[in-house]
Amino acid sequence: MTSKAKIDPWGSLDIEDYRKLFDEFGIESFAKYKHTLSDNRYVRRDIIFGHRDFGRIMKAIEKREPFVMMTGLMPSGRFHFGHKMVADQIIYYQQLGAQVYVCSADLEAYTMRGMDLPKAREIAVNEYLPSYVALGLDLDKTNFWFQTDYVVPYYRFRDLLSKKVTLNELKGIYGKLSPGKILSVLAQSADILHPQLEEFNGPIPTVVPVGADQDPHIRLTRDLSGRFQLEYNFIPPSSTYHKFMRGLQGGKMSSSEPKSSIALSDKPKDAMRKIMAAKTGGRPTVEEHRKKGGRPEECTVYDLLLYHLVEDDKELKDIYTSCRSGALICGECKAKCGELMAKFLDKHHKRMSKAQNKVKTYLDKRN
Ligand code: TRP
Ligand code: SF4
Repeated sequence: MTSKAKIDPWGSLDIEDYRKLFDEFGIESFAKYKHTLSDNRYVRRDIIFGHRDFGRIMKAIEKREPFVMMTGLMPSGRFHFGHKMVADQIIYYQQLGAQVYVCSADLEAYTMRGMDLPKAREIAVNEYLPSYVALGLDLDKTNFWFQTDYVVPYYRFRDLLSKKVTLNELKGIYGKLSPGKILSVLAQSADILHPQLEEFNGPIPTVVPVGADQDPHIRLTRDLSGRFQLEYNFIPPSSTYHKFMRGLQGGKMSSSEPKSSIALSDKPKDAMRKIMAAKTGGRPTVEEHRKKGGRPEECTVYDLLLYHLVEDDKELKDIYTSCRSGALICGECKAKCGELMAKFLDKHHKRMSKAQNKVKTYLDKRN
């Protein structure tokens, strides 16, 4: 038990080899569902690469039976293209018929990131929620909550969870503990399981799309669901795992480091500037690039095209092969990426003001 890799949800996750997650943690390959869900760009391109128990969800989708999609985001900074990947998945499942549950993990932002609560709320209300809506989320069919501001059955259940887990078990999963960390962990399990309480849907298949760094929470929550079998008859939650986009400078994408990512609220010209300065897989000189070709696998500009900006597979493949052959050089490629980005952002910004009104109406209605 010494050399087992650790995944730390609050550490700096740099997963070199995603396949290791299959062997070491028992995550299964998503390849099996690629064909059926090929309309999803992230599935088609192996960005969603793994799952636990997704079969249950696939069955619900195919039989048009009810299921829940639940996920949460920590409102820690500006809404960037890494967050968009999660938003796109939420919307995808909603369009497939899922009952959507989304939380703003403001308790976690408070305890683990030192964010103050009014600031966390402001970010969620002004950046995250309207971005979801502008990207296509139907708020009227969404159950959205703040971890610090929700309903009694959720809090009651979160507190009951404390009885079913030991300190040693939490230490084994998360290493060093603090009261805030423990509370965040229990809150996340409550986020995932509470849709199955009688006050909500009762037992129902639930899918939780997350980055691989969140797997410790998923494993714990699946275990906890079993320990409440008698009381609640929970169905163990399913999960899917996506790869992370790298930051534009290489390394991790972080919402607190503006140069590492493009926010959906960035002005097109600022986004363009970041793309121009981004780390690519190109060679030091144009001559060398022409001769040896570039390495799209190592290129953060290519990441933007792959994850977000080019929907058409053939078009993407053309970029890939002409980069590899050296026919396409980084200057041209960045200009093209910048153009697509500007187009996307312009459209998104136009949708944002309407989305902000929708969010306001939605939140007012609840108060
Ligand atoms: N821990 C998640 C993050 O760091 C946020 C989160 C809170 C979450 N509750 C959740 C994710 C429930 C998935 C399901 O981003
Ligand atoms: Fe990246 Fe494009 Fe340069 Fe290839 S040509 S390395 S994809 S920027």
